[in-house]
Amino acid sequence: MKTLGIETSCDETAIAVYDSERGIIGESIYSQIKMHAEYGGVVPELASRDHCLKIITVLEEALGDIDLNSIDQVAYTSGPGLLGALLIGESFAQGLSMALDVPLIPINHLEGHLMSPVMEFPEINVPYISLLVSGGHSMIVDVKERGDYEILGQSHDDAVGEAFDKVGKLLGLPYPGGPFIEKIARDGNPKAYDFPRPMIHSDNLDLSFSGLKTSVLYTVRNIVDLNDQIKADIAASFQQAVIDVLSKKIQKSVELTGREEVIIAGGVAANKALRDAIKKLENILNIKVYYPHMKYCGDNAAMIAFVGSLRSDDKISIEASSVRARWPLNELSK
Ligand code: KG4
Ligand code: ZN
Repeated sequence: MKTLGIETSCDETAIAVYDSERGIIGESIYSQIKMHAEYGGVVPELASRDHCLKIITVLEEALGDIDLNSIDQVAYTSGPGLLGALLIGESFAQGLSMALDVPLIPINHLEGHLMSPVMEFPEINVPYISLLVSGGHSMIVDVKERGDYEILGQSHDDAVGEAFDKVGKLLGLPYPGGPFIEKIARDGNPKAYDFPRPMIHSDNLDLSFSGLKTSVLYTVRNIVDLNDQIKADIAASFQQAVIDVLSKKIQKSVELTGREEVIIAGGVAANKALRDAIKKLENILNIKVYYPHMKYCGDNAAMIAFVGSLRSDDKISIEASSVRARWPLNELSK
């Protein structure tokens, strides 16, 4: 069975085809990031327009030699995300579903991030712990089975990626700050600045990053000559604070649940220093840590097509389809 997946929840226009026997057989992703970088963040109106402009080309690239008529069902990200951006993917999915006369399946974007490791690593079995760290979300989730997700802890203020992006801005780095912070941090001393590790000792698994960001702000304000070495030291010290908090929380979540497998997903999972630090927990905690392929850390359609293939029973009529800015994981069907 072939499932075509469509992802347009933020600033990536992506389409992929998942074949139940062969896995992903076609995929294409177009990132709008350069356009938004000029404004220092994603501009929702521009995102919607650009999805409109690019989606047909992305479909053609994803299909390659695959015959569109061989598609058995169409899955699309129905939320959470930017409403205008989601609407483009939804309308496109509705059109395809109608033209091909195949089922239409709404997919939760977060479930895509949480479940896609099963597609990438067949040896993984639920239950496992997933650390989902992106520009919009920071959460530690106990993935019990498909549709059954317990959020063990989450950020109540900034998401990790958001904190990286804001600190990037303070250091005069381009948007999005995450990859640039990681780059300059390689030349910095992670012990140069003693930034706070918010909630590291709290007895729950919740997270908070706005205080850390504010601490960087005050530090930067007091520096007269913010030269490249100082920037590198601040970046390295900030990154280390984030890594320390996330490592500790992963440790606590494993101790609490007894899970033996941990997956790090979302855009921030591309951070090599974070990957290395969490990998080191393997021996200490006797767990196995998995990372998505770099191309599947950030937003992509392969995860939507894959979850679509698992959720054939959730098909809806074109009239019943909708998009939602918010769609909490605990509202998913099992
Ligand atoms: O998952 P994603 O592509 O989009 C959503 O937010 O849904 O994540 C983007 C976020 C941005 O905040 C970006 O700065 C961050 O992931 N990011 C990184 C790195 N690469 C991307 N943060 C830290 N280190 C990186 N190498
Ligand atoms: Zn995402």
